[in-house]
Amino acid sequence: MDQLFLTLLATPILLTASAAAAAAAAAESTLTQSSTLAGDQRLVSPGDIFRFGLFPAVNRSRWYLGIWFTVSPDAVVWVANRDRPLSGQSSGVVAVSGARGGLVLLDVASNETSIVWSSSNSSGTAARAQLFDTGNLVLTDKDGNVLWQSFEHPTNTFLPGIRVGKDLRTGAEWSLSSWRGADDPSPGDFRYVMDTSGSPELHVWSRGRKTYRTGPWNGVRFSGIPEMTTFEDMFEFEFRVATGGEVSYQFRNRDGSPMSRVLLNESGVMQRMVWDRSAMSWSNFWSGPRDQCDNYGRCGAFGVCNVVDATVCGCIRGFAPRSQAEWYMRNTSGGCGRRTPLQCTGSGGGGGEDGFYLLRGVKLPETHGCAVDAAATLEECRRRCLSNCSCTAYAGADIRGGGSGCIQWFGDLMDTRFVDGGQELYVRLAKSELDAIKNANFAVVIALVITGFVLAILSLGFLMWRKARRGKKVRVLDETGDFITGCPTYPFEIIRAATNGFSQENEIGRGGFGIVYKGQLPNGQEIAVKKLSKENTVQGLKEFMNEVDIICKLQHRNLVRLLGYCIHCSERLLVYEYMSNKSLDAFIFHESGRAMLSWKMRMDIILDIASGLQYLHKDSRHTIIHRDLKAANVLLDADMVAKISDFGIARLFSHNGGNQDCTITDRVVGTPGYMSPEYAMDGKLSFMQDVYSFGVLLLEIISGKHNQGTSSLIAHATTCIQVGLLCVQESPDQRPPMADVIHMLSREKALGQPRRPVVCTPMRRSPAAVVDDLGVQETTTCGHSGRLTITDLEAR
Ligand SMILES: *[C@@H]1O[C@H](CO)[C@@H](O)[C@H](O)[C@H]1NC(C)=O
Ligand SMILES: *[C@@H]1O[C@H](CO)[C@@H](O)[C@H](O)[C@H]1NC(C)=O
Ligand SMILES: *[C@@H]1O[C@H](CO)[C@@H](O)[C@H](O)[C@H]1NC(C)=O
Ligand SMILES: *[C@@H]1O[C@H](CO)[C@@H](O)[C@H](O)[C@H]1NC(C)=O
Ligand SMILES: *[C@@H]1O[C@H](CO)[C@@H](O)[C@H](O)[C@H]1NC(C)=O
Ligand SMILES: *[C@@H]1O[C@H](CO)[C@@H](O)[C@H](O)[C@H]1NC(C)=O
Repeated sequence: MDQLFLTLLATPILLTASAAAAAAAAAESTLTQSSTLAGDQRLVSPGDIFRFGLFPAVNRSRWYLGIWFTVSPDAVVWVANRDRPLSGQSSGVVAVSGARGGLVLLDVASNETSIVWSSSNSSGTAARAQLFDTGNLVLTDKDGNVLWQSFEHPTNTFLPGIRVGKDLRTGAEWSLSSWRGADDPSPGDFRYVMDTSGSPELHVWSRGRKTYRTGPWNGVRFSGIPEMTTFEDMFEFEFRVATGGEVSYQFRNRDGSPMSRVLLNESGVMQRMVWDRSAMSWSNFWSGPRDQCDNYGRCGAFGVCNVVDATVCGCIRGFAPRSQAEWYMRNTSGGCGRRTPLQCTGSGGGGGEDGFYLLRGVKLPETHGCAVDAAATLEECRRRCLSNCSCTAYAGADIRGGGSGCIQWFGDLMDTRFVDGGQELYVRLAKSELDAIKNANFAVVIALVITGFVLAILSLGFLMWRKARRGKKVRVLDETGDFITGCPTYPFEIIRAATNGFSQENEIGRGGFGIVYKGQLPNGQEIAVKKLSKENTVQGLKEFMNEVDIICKLQHRNLVRLLGYCIHCSERLLVYEYMSNKSLDAFIFHESGRAMLSWKMRMDIILDIASGLQYLHKDSRHTIIHRDLKAANVLLDADMVAKISDFGIARLFSHNGGNQDCTITDRVVGTPGYMSPEYAMDGKLSFMQDVYSFGVLLLEIISGKHNQGTSSLIAHATTCIQVGLLCVQESPDQRPPMADVIHMLSREKALGQPRRPVVCTPMRRSPAAVVDDLGVQETTTCGHSGRLTITDLEAR
């Protein structure tokens, strides 16, 4: 077949590497029949947004023809010869072959020139190939009729304007397939395809196994991705469903920019990325699957997945685990079964004994094999489902205008999960089950009224009891932490309920960043909810999510744990673990607080802060300079363990360079008194900024004095400590007389360098010393260590 093509090639072109190189196509966007593209030559789109040419992969051992972003050559958006790479750059020649070949990639390395890749056969005669600023490469005939375009053959990337879907009439399909590896464009394991076997939705497949569903399109967004609504100021989403025709999905950037892409990456994750011009890098805007509940069929048939719940998997009401034992061992693949069989007696529309349980806020289950009718009303849908004994559930197909359309499920309900902003699903249950739920609900209402009353009395007592003895409480365990991958989102309703509707009683802090509320989750866990102020929300959604993701991954005993977040309309909420002893400044700068801090506690706090900082600087996956370490940003939990909080202005460095001591120049933000001179004056930021703040904090902790604005505390503390050390030198004649001490304290005299201070440790009395029972002759051993440490002092 290759031979056939060769003879059909436009004859005037002498196909040798040297001849091809001579036919330069330098910075053109168009390739014609009279030019070729060879070796390192490229087509450049008119605005130089995209380039088309040969690029190397797999350690430069293989060469591929592709299209990439000019600013980011690693971001290859399309590849021609995924299955047949070239072995060298010089052997590749791209040409427009007039007759039937269209656009071809030739390998001219051996004696025998062969066709490595060609765009499909077309009826017309290809005249030119042009690369556009959208990233589309379009092959046209001499009259400008489009014969072929790269947008119709996506590889692993969607750009604005590329469709994913199917044309049911022609059988054409637009789908993505992942690369095999980060440096290997050959087709990998994952595919992203439109599924039209039920209500149309997008699926990720891996080697014949479904791994992720977006959930059906509900007229506004995918049922499983409610946050698409919050992206709408950046992207425009279009879902086309022509019955028996095209079913497709595409997006555009609202500002018309081509600088965003959706990538099916090598681990089967859809990554929506946006080009960050200031950072000159791609920022991950959204990715899915987001968490384990997005893993297809996580909780089995009739199961429902809930990331916020410690057990993750549950059964829909009226169902119970098919195997309690396996379920208990966290093997939920068996799913759930009906507790009470349906009463439905078969044909004829009986079913009077069954009803529906309304499951709210979910991603609709798998719609494969469902009956979908866009015209029916919800009421009609209910009637239809009741009258067909095999119908197990129904839901509206379109949520616009109060809901319309009808989806009916006939078998197992697979892959249902809770999502914030999810849909309503009506699950068919036997009447006796529904009655039981009703009674249970009634009982719950009664119980709530009673417990509310009891709780009110108890909490009054508890408050009084806690006033009496602070800091003796058992630490609340973070139950959700183990199971979660990625930063969990909390449903807004849960947070609202947990904070009593953000009531003033629950407010525990307030500042420029927003308001902090105390709350309690239904499972009893105490949380602190930071509701960001509107000034703070000018930060783009993607930066916000990026930051949240990173902070969420920071896990250290001495960092306040971010448990999750919640985005609701324009509100942004951060959920932290609750620190019952508030912040360190309340202790060290107030007399009553100071009195509670023993030397041992102070030392523990200092070490806690130091190890938290060390983790930020070196141990975590990212390297972070906190920039605003101060007493107010150190929180204490119930056991007085100190934890660093507030990463609002932290600077992040990725962990590749290894040059951790690098210094950058940055806008100066922070708190006066804690800023190092080099940073405050020249904006020079390095880890030493945090070290400086730590030093100030350390002095504050031991002195109980605030380092007000200027560095007065530092000067005083240094002077006092040094004078003190001079006075306790071992040899009496090295100790300064009081006159010198006064001069040194008032800084009229230079301070000397203290030597060999005496550290005395009282010993058990030796029998000889017992003679004087008054203890005048108490035996002491004196160490002559050159350095005086606080632990030594503390031992006294
Ligand atoms: C690529 O080259 C590097 C260093 O030369 C080597 O460590 C690595 O294993 C190579 N990778 C492949 C896929 O050959
Ligand atoms: C190239 O052609 C020469 C002479 O025609 C022949 O000897 C040689 O085997 C050929 N090489 C290949 C790789 O076909
Ligand atoms: C081109 O068309 C011929 C004849 O219709 C067919 O045999 C061949 O497989 C086609 N080639 C490609 C690359 O589609
Ligand atoms: C795929 O994307 C996810 C989410 O952004 C990321 O965690 C993962 O590392 C990516 N995989 C690869 C191979 O890049
Ligand atoms: C989980 O349970 C299923 C049956 O419900 C069983 O076939 C499977 O082997 C179990 N998997 C593990 C890891 O135990
Ligand atoms: C119930 O629905 C299924 C699937 O649409 C259909 O095959 C079956 O004929 C229906 N049964 C009745 C009694 O309408």
